[in-house]
Amino acid sequence: MDQITVQSPATVSNVVCGFDCLGFALDGPFDEMTVRKIPEPVIRITHRDDYGLPTDPKLNVAGVALQALIDAAEIDFGFEVEIVKHIKPGSGIGSSSASACGAVVAANRLLEHRFSNVELVELAMAGEMIASGSRHADNLAPCIYGGFTLVRSSGPLDIVEIAFPELFATVIHPQIEVKTSEARAILPKDVPLREAVRNWSNLGAFVAALSTGDLDLLARSMVDTIVEPARRALIPRFDELKSASLAAGAIGGGISGSGPSVFMLSESREIAEFVQEAMNIVYAPTGIDFNTYVSRISPHGVRTV
Ligand code: HSE
Repeated sequence: MDQITVQSPATVSNVVCGFDCLGFALDGPFDEMTVRKIPEPVIRITHRDDYGLPTDPKLNVAGVALQALIDAAEIDFGFEVEIVKHIKPGSGIGSSSASACGAVVAANRLLEHRFSNVELVELAMAGEMIASGSRHADNLAPCIYGGFTLVRSSGPLDIVEIAFPELFATVIHPQIEVKTSEARAILPKDVPLREAVRNWSNLGAFVAALSTGDLDLLARSMVDTIVEPARRALIPRFDELKSASLAAGAIGGGISGSGPSVFMLSESREIAEFVQEAMNIVYAPTGIDFNTYVSRISPHGVRTV
């Protein structure tokens, strides 16, 4: 096999109580990527979308991740990559992770699965680093594994797949710019022990609630008193979005990754669509362009088409 096309899904990271460690995969939106082997030891990238992303492989997230894979595999040929991005860069739903993961998963399939999933996350992290400037795998892990994942350690990587009940996410993406580097720069450098205890108690309870399907416990656990208070001002009408979504029946939610997207979890597609309507009502008068999505939490990561 010399060519493969994959769909690489959007992901939600942090998930309120799991800053830099928790994440889940969506069914959509997803990026489409075709990767083909070429005899020359180079990487060629073409973007068939309108985002104006760099095609120089040293500056492109997919290119940097692929170079890491080429170096690790010690191969003497290269890859040509065609990317159609449907996940808008800077949306906060793992756009750069989708590019990095799609590239390495596709190339790995062309190399007959030389690398394990955890090794692929490590390789994709090289690409993610150039986008966010920091080493975290909370979007990469669910993009490759699917479902809910917890990155117990990012060096050395240790990824835990978490059992979960059927759940649906509603995501609103206000078309404003929130740079991950800036959203990280405003975070507190030190956390009082009392807040740390509250947070790890919620994270532990959240994981237990997912595994047992206890949705009341899930709702009680979706609390963040460390990151959300620092970042909520970056997202217009964040508090209104949250309260309208909860009133519409959402279990809970918050900022997706470093924003500007906001996500809510619901127990059925029907409720997730009520939440979407509630979000639309909050955002319609703002004059800010926005998209909303409803998706099942997907058990699948990058998939071959
Ligand atoms: N966990 C990261 C953050 C996700 O919140 O900054 C964005 O890449």
